[in-house]
Amino acid sequence: MYVFENRFAGKTMLITGGTSGIGKAACLRAAAEGAFVVVVGRNAERGQAVVDEIVQKGGKAIFLAADVTREEAVQALFAEIDAKVGPLDIAINNAGVVGHGERIDEMPTEEWNRVINTNLNGIFFCCREEAKRMIARGQGGAIVNVGSVTGLTGFYRSSAYVTSKHAVNGLTKAMANDLAPFNIRVNSVNPANTATPLTAASAQEIQQKIQAAMAAGKSLEEAKAETMIGGKTTALLKRSSTPEEQVGAILYLASDDAGYVTGVPFATDGGWTAY
Ligand SMILES: NC(=O)c1ccc[n+]([C@@H]2O[C@H](COP(=O)([O-])OP(=O)(O)OC[C@H]3O[C@@H](n4cnc5c(N)ncnc54)[C@H](O)[C@@H]3O)[C@@H](O)[C@H]2O)c1
Repeated sequence: MYVFENRFAGKTMLITGGTSGIGKAACLRAAAEGAFVVVVGRNAERGQAVVDEIVQKGGKAIFLAADVTREEAVQALFAEIDAKVGPLDIAINNAGVVGHGERIDEMPTEEWNRVINTNLNGIFFCCREEAKRMIARGQGGAIVNVGSVTGLTGFYRSSAYVTSKHAVNGLTKAMANDLAPFNIRVNSVNPANTATPLTAASAQEIQQKIQAAMAAGKSLEEAKAETMIGGKTTALLKRSSTPEEQVGAILYLASDDAGYVTGVPFATDGGWTAY
């Protein structure tokens, strides 16, 4: 892990989905760089484990539980932050879920809502509370939303996910306009495939679908076409990203080094959208 010592000293940083994957890696590095980290997630045991790891290494953090899809839970979370932590300098809205590979004609409404509620409404609920507080405090701020390469281009059997992540980038640009007068910068990162528990679970589900389709007499190509990986994937770097590589971009956008950067959907996609 690269560490810029004291880059975030004296700063308070909220990270949603901080108990796993990219969010957890962001919590660990931000704390190592001096931030007081507010780790947000649904699972208290996993959240406390992240806090314990940070504290053991000499950092400062607190875990607060919230399901970002529930508006009243997000409002309660921010009331708790006001009471227990104080003002936020930086917010990383990272919590998200991936779809199950349905083609548009077979997309159940419940699945559409699950993905949109988490990846879009969850970010909106958090962004609104963050913006209110940063505006009222009058000292600027930085917000980084975690989108996806599928927020920059289409992807096979992923209509809810693609829609939610395009919306994250739209929201990011709209918020950059609203918040620039208050010196609050808003950007997004847009990862391609990154090795996290989310992609491990998704890969397992895809393998099971392929095996079932082949057991039913389909060829490998036909079986793959029934999953998300049946489409085109073109990361120019020909490998997955590490969570830490995504965190490098997230924390750059959160830092003063990106002081003149706002409204940018940053393609952290291994060159995918340059193809
Ligand atoms: N891993 C990838 O390949 C990849 C690619 C593109 C974008 N992303 C995005 O990166 C972000 C992080 O993903 P990851 O790969 O680290 O996944 P992950 O599953 O390891 O972590 C996601 C975290 O979000 C939390 N979360 C999910 N729903 C929540 C809710 N309703 N309330 C609170 N927390 C919730 C999960 O519990 C988990 O801690 C997501 O927004 C994802 O869409 C990931």
